[in-house]
Amino acid sequence: GPSQDRLALRLPTEYTERTPGCPFDPSTRLTDLGTRGPVHQVTMGDGDTAWLITGHEEARAVLADARFSSDRFRSERVLRKLPEALRARMTDPAVRAGNFITMDAPEHTRYRRLLTGQFTVRRMRQLTPRVQEIVTEHLDAMVAAGNRADLVPAFALPVPSLVICELLGVAYADRAQFQERSSTLLRLNAPAEEVVKASDELRAFMRGLVRSKRAEPTDDLLSGLITAAPELTDDELVGISLLLLIAGHETTANMLALGTFALLEHPEELEKLRSDPSLVDGAVEELLRYLSIVHLGPVRTTLEEVEVAGVRIPADETVIVNVPVANRDPRVYGERGELDVARGRVSHLAFGHGIHQCLGQQLARVEMAVGFTELLRRLPGLRLDLPAAEVPLRSDMLVYGVHSLPVAWD
Ligand code: HEM
Repeated sequence: GPSQDRLALRLPTEYTERTPGCPFDPSTRLTDLGTRGPVHQVTMGDGDTAWLITGHEEARAVLADARFSSDRFRSERVLRKLPEALRARMTDPAVRAGNFITMDAPEHTRYRRLLTGQFTVRRMRQLTPRVQEIVTEHLDAMVAAGNRADLVPAFALPVPSLVICELLGVAYADRAQFQERSSTLLRLNAPAEEVVKASDELRAFMRGLVRSKRAEPTDDLLSGLITAAPELTDDELVGISLLLLIAGHETTANMLALGTFALLEHPEELEKLRSDPSLVDGAVEELLRYLSIVHLGPVRTTLEEVEVAGVRIPADETVIVNVPVANRDPRVYGERGELDVARGRVSHLAFGHGIHQCLGQQLARVEMAVGFTELLRRLPGLRLDLPAAEVPLRSDMLVYGVHSLPVAWD
């Protein structure tokens, strides 16, 4: 799950765009870098230097190594580059509280334990039939309305959004309050004032919710957290729940929409999955790998001089693990790393690795497995309703995907 602090990254478009004509492949510039070696010094949009990790093994090693910090704003160098308004915000303890994706051990450990205690087998098991219901309701509505729809607002966005709302205890009717604002936080070049405004409004919204759960706990995760750890401050609870809310709907939504697009553009793979739905769990892992929607990170800062694959990286440098290229490493996935839904057990870095490995991965897997299975079952003859080249891509966002996906079915 991404978070607002990454907004400070300004990557040149050759690192964010995918290959013209193939919206699933990393740009040829990046793929070429990957063939030359696993570690690269690159120049960012603001003229700063950063280090790009493109090798699978090296990416794994970096993400498991405590000398790489998740707290970018510990660095004066990074802070100096920020617009004034953002700098004040990123160093404000009230804003940083609970946002554990940016913390290192042992601070991170405490929050992670508390959250793992809430993401229980029991809660995830209860959620599975609910995911099934939510998916079915949305497909029913699509079918009732005709035989064409934009898959993003009709299915891909509302399903995970509703699921994370129910998990947290946010009223889904309030979605307008957070969907647009969290999307502002994930825009790569959003103006600082807009980011600050969206973030203030989100925090005010969450603060209201935290107060009401404290007063009247219910059966949701936020209430469970308050009961399990009454010492958590309102700021911490706001930080934790915003992280979950944003990470929980933006990522899965993009996997559902971009994943459907990828399957439609690979008719043989789609056919394999249609004719053998038991392939779905493997197909989900393969789509996660192949699409690598968290395409500009994880990002780390070196705490001391380190060596990666024989390359010396000085202290206080920005290190970007390029998941799309690492997840296509030919040493691991074969020459072209093409989509193969029957690849079998694939390990990948789409959920990250190490202490920050995605907390919501089991939930995301359930949503995707149920989502793709039902989508293919309920919408026979599913196809794109516009030329593939016209699908608007999210190269301008921290989480890659499609802005919309017009589809039709029989
Ligand atoms: C962390 C990807 C779904 C909550 C991460 C990280 C990645 C990621 C790459 C690691 C970030 C880092 O190392 O800096 C994804 C993808 C998803 C997904 C691809 C969907 C397909 C979810 C969902 C939730 C969630 C549904 C919430 C229920 C989180 C949280 C973290 C995280 C809280 C931070 C964990 C920590 O710092 O210990 N995710 N995520 N994610 N994700 Fe996800």
